[in-house]
Formats: sequence, structure tokens, C-alpha cells
Amino acid sequence: MLVNEVRESLIEAAKEARKWAYAPYSQYPVGAALFTASGRIYEGVNVENAAFPMTICAERVAIFKAVSEGEREFRAIAVVTKNGGSPCGACRQVLAEFGLETVVIIADEEGRLRRETTVAELLPESFGPPDLDR
Ligand code: THU
Repeated sequence: MLVNEVRESLIEAAKEARKWAYAPYSQYPVGAALFTASGRIYEGVNVENAAFPMTICAERVAIFKAVSEGEREFRAIAVVTKNGGSPCGACRQVLAEFGLETVVIIADEEGRLRRETTVAELLPESFGPPDLDR
């Protein structure tokens, strides 16, 4: 679905970013790298909090960074975790807001590709902008 070069750079960027994850409670650092239509890559990491529900996932940090800099069209997002974990439901919903065709690349801490899919596949029958006529 993606050219090899883009897939590899995104996995590498997410793997590098993961080093900055703040995950003292779960000990489950996550790195994400979002590739936008303008060709830029925005990285994100999970940032936990002693008040646990305040934690934010790596994917949403990357998305919010991109949107806050004027980006709204996303091509792909890579997510790197120890074991190739899949994006949580909240992150799937936030990704869906900006397009169901965004490619989702899931890799483990060695950078090995575990799965390549799309937001549409990860969040079937989603509620999104069209439901509000936007
Ligand atoms: N986490 C993410 O950053 N992304 C996901 O999609 C799954 C979960 C984080 C949240 C928390 O800091 C840790 O992983 C364990 O749940």
C-alpha cells in the first residue's frame, strides 16, 4: 500500500521517537510517526501522568502536533511498541476524523513490520464528519 521507502522511514522515525516516551507507570513506551500530504513527518510519544486518565497516546500526540501546524491530510502513521501493539480505540477515532484511508503501519521495537492496514479496516462503521454533514 505504501512505497517501501516511506514505510521504512516512518517506522524508523517512530522507533527513534519512542525513546522520548514518558511511560513511568505502564513501562510501555510507544512511538508514532505521521506522514502528511505535504510530505512532512510528525512524531509523537505517549505521555503518562500520575493521574492516570490524563495520559495521552503517541498517535494522538503526533496527530495534534500536525493539526496544530496546519496539516489536515494524512497519508500514513507508523506505531512502534515492544510487541507490535495495535492503536487504541480513541486513537482510531481521532485518525478517522481526518480520513479513513490513512495507512496504519504497526511495527515492533526492532522495527519489524507486524501489520499494515487502514483506519477504515481498524474502525469499521465509524462515526465521522459525514454523519454531521461536514
Ligand atoms: N498507548 C499508546 O500510546 N498508543 C496506543 O494506541 C495504545 C496505548 C499508551 C498509553 C499508555 O501510556 C501505554 O501505552 C499503556 O497503555
